Amino acid sequence: MTTLDILKLCYLLGSVSFIVGLKMLAKPDSAKRGNMLAAIGMGIAIIGTILFHRNEEDESIGNLAWIFGGIAIGTVVGYLAAMKVKMTQMPQMVSLFNGMGGACAALIGIVEMDTHNPEVFGERFTIFLGLMIGTVSFAGSIIAYGKLEGKVKDFGSKFQQWFNNTFIFAILALLVYASLTPDFMPSSVIWIIFGASMLYGILFVLPIGGADMPVVISLLNSFTGVAAAFGGFLYHNQVMLTGGILVGSAGTILTVLMCNAMNRSLWNVIIGAFSGSSGGGKSTEGLSIREINVTDTAILCAYAQKVTIIPGYGLAVAQAQHACHEFEKVLEDKGVEVNFAIHPVAGRMPGHMNVLLAEADVPYDKLKEMEDINPHLPNTDVVIVIGANDVVNPAAETDPSSPIYGMPIIKANTAKNIIVMKRSMAKGYAGIENELFYDNKTRMLFGDAKATLEKLVAEVKNV
Ligand code: TAP
Repeated sequence: MTTLDILKLCYLLGSVSFIVGLKMLAKPDSAKRGNMLAAIGMGIAIIGTILFHRNEEDESIGNLAWIFGGIAIGTVVGYLAAMKVKMTQMPQMVSLFNGMGGACAALIGIVEMDTHNPEVFGERFTIFLGLMIGTVSFAGSIIAYGKLEGKVKDFGSKFQQWFNNTFIFAILALLVYASLTPDFMPSSVIWIIFGASMLYGILFVLPIGGADMPVVISLLNSFTGVAAAFGGFLYHNQVMLTGGILVGSAGTILTVLMCNAMNRSLWNVIIGAFSGSSGGGKSTEGLSIREINVTDTAILCAYAQKVTIIPGYGLAVAQAQHACHEFEKVLEDKGVEVNFAIHPVAGRMPGHMNVLLAEADVPYDKLKEMEDINPHLPNTDVVIVIGANDVVNPAAETDPSSPIYGMPIIKANTAKNIIVMKRSMAKGYAGIENELFYDNKTRMLFGDAKATLEKLVAEVKNV
């Protein structure tokens, strides 16, 4: 077996483990192992390349001190960041790591222009396109990170939308022309494309606000995958190609699914048609709320036949998942049927509620998807909304002036009794009022979700 055969075998193993790992990510109980498998596959591909790759002169890869130095620094930084990050900061971390991937793809474009045959149209085009997409992903991800951290504010106007669209077509036109014309500004065109793509990445994400951020992060993720796949074309590297295409296509599918869940058109997200989503919608001035205390809530739930818990971002903030599971168990001990209604964009990242509740060992069969649970809510005695707001806001169905109009919701308002657990009357992520809190069937149970749930557990036991 030659070194080339061994290298191909490493790439095959890497590619297969990506595909199997990705498949395993689809189920919460196998997701952790799937992630580990794909990481091992990536490790095999990297080590295989370092040890067995040979160039046309049959020389192995040099600069080993640099390579292993970089791997060591990256491993330590990545490990510490992942161990330290709070669940609620996960989207920021995904954004930041995605930005790093985009930057790597962009660097390939900058470095490889000199080493590859710049006369060939296909190679120039591949390099430029990888550079452009990687740079947009890098700049966009950094702005997305800043926005999620609350350090960068929404900024946009109708003119900017028009400018953005013209600008991206101008960059693409330059890219095609520069690919067809090798002697067109040979030393500076790569930097012009890099600079213009940086600017576009910033301008593309700046106006997008509120509830559309997760869609943008997922879209940028798929951009990074596509940019990495261009690197695979350039190096004739199968594993880079497979990995890039998998990230690109999985990211695109996730983006489309999220767009559907939020009733957004992908094209409108791409052209940045949605700007800061706060504001708009009906005023709730003059409407009044009704409160309930822990004891009455415990009695109401303990004597109910069916209770559905609707978790949201506040559950994650309060880290109340374990208390929530306890609450579910004490109710079940009283003979109550308890389910969880999961909205696809509840929380701040795809699958946020599933991950949170899985961490507390809530059985998966109790987690019901929005479309499955909605028809059962009119027969549900009590729904308990825990730290959720936008995902149960009826304005999405009734108020065309609301920025979330058209987004499918969990129809908490159709249940017989509604308890809303939150700390105050503060708005949710989309920054809009929620009429559900003023509904005749609704009682507000104010307080931190974890503290309130712990009190509820104790009260239900006494009922
Ligand atoms: P939100 O609409 O953001 O509402 C969360 C509510 O939790 C707030 O109204 C807050 O009210 C309450 N809360 C915060 N801390 C709490 C605590 N310690 N105890 C009790 N309550 C607490 O959440 P949602 O309904 O889950 O909707 C998610 C929103 O985020 C959607 O607009 C979605 O589009 C957007 N988004 C989603 C994602 C993904 S992919 N999931 C990513 C980014 C953005 P108080 O302050 O009064 O307590």
